[in-house]
Amino acid sequence: MDFLDLVKERFSVRDFLPKEIESDKLNKILLAGNLAPTARNIQPQRIYVLKSKDALEKMKEITKMVYNAPVVLLVCVDLDEVWKNPLEEGYTTSEMDASIVGTHMMLEAWNLGVASVWIRYFDANRISKEFNLAPNIKPIFLLPIGYKTDKVIPSPSHSNKKDLQEIVKYL
Ligand SMILES: Cc1cc2nc3c(=O)[nH]c(=O)nc-3n(C[C@H](O)[C@H](O)[C@H](O)COP(=O)(O)O)c2cc1C
Repeated sequence: MDFLDLVKERFSVRDFLPKEIESDKLNKILLAGNLAPTARNIQPQRIYVLKSKDALEKMKEITKMVYNAPVVLLVCVDLDEVWKNPLEEGYTTSEMDASIVGTHMMLEAWNLGVASVWIRYFDANRISKEFNLAPNIKPIFLLPIGYKTDKVIPSPSHSNKKDLQEIVKYL
C-alpha cells in the first residue's frame, strides 16, 4: 500500500477480538520499532510484551484503556542510557525516542492488518511498582494491539484535521 494511503486509513481501535496475533506478525511489528531512529542511535527503548493472562489482567487493573487487546506493548525507556542534551539542563530525548519507536510499530501493525491505540492514561509509578520495573526504566506509553472487531469504526474526531495553513508556516 502507498504509505500516505496507509497513514490515511489507520485509526485508533478500542475494541479488539479475542484472537492471538501470529508470532511472525508480532516480530515484524517489534522489528519495525527496532529500526526506528533514536538520538545518537542509543536505542534506550525497552519494550515489554504483555501477553500472559497475568500480565494483561494486572495492566487492566491499572488502566481500563487496554480494551481487552490480546497483546499490550509497554514501551519504556532506560533513563541511564537515554541521550541527555548538554546544552539544556535536565532535557532528555526519552519521550521522542520512544514515540518514534511507537509510531513505527503502530504503522507496521496497521500494514499487517493489526490495529492499535496509543495510551497514556495511566499512572507510570503504578506500572513501575506492579511490574517491578527498575528505577531507571520509565514507562512512556502503552500500545494495545490486536485484530479489530467488525463493528469498530473511526471515532468522530478521527478525521477532524486542522487545515495545513493553520499549522504550517513557511518562513
Ligand atoms: C500521545 C497520545 C496519547 C494518547 N492517549 C490516549 C489514551 O490514553 N486513551 C485513548 O483512548 N486514546 C489515546 N490516544 C489516541 C488519540 O485519542 C487518537 O490518536 C486521536 O484522537 C486521533 O484519532 P485516530 O488515532 O483515530 O486518528 C492517544 C494518542 C496519543 C498520540
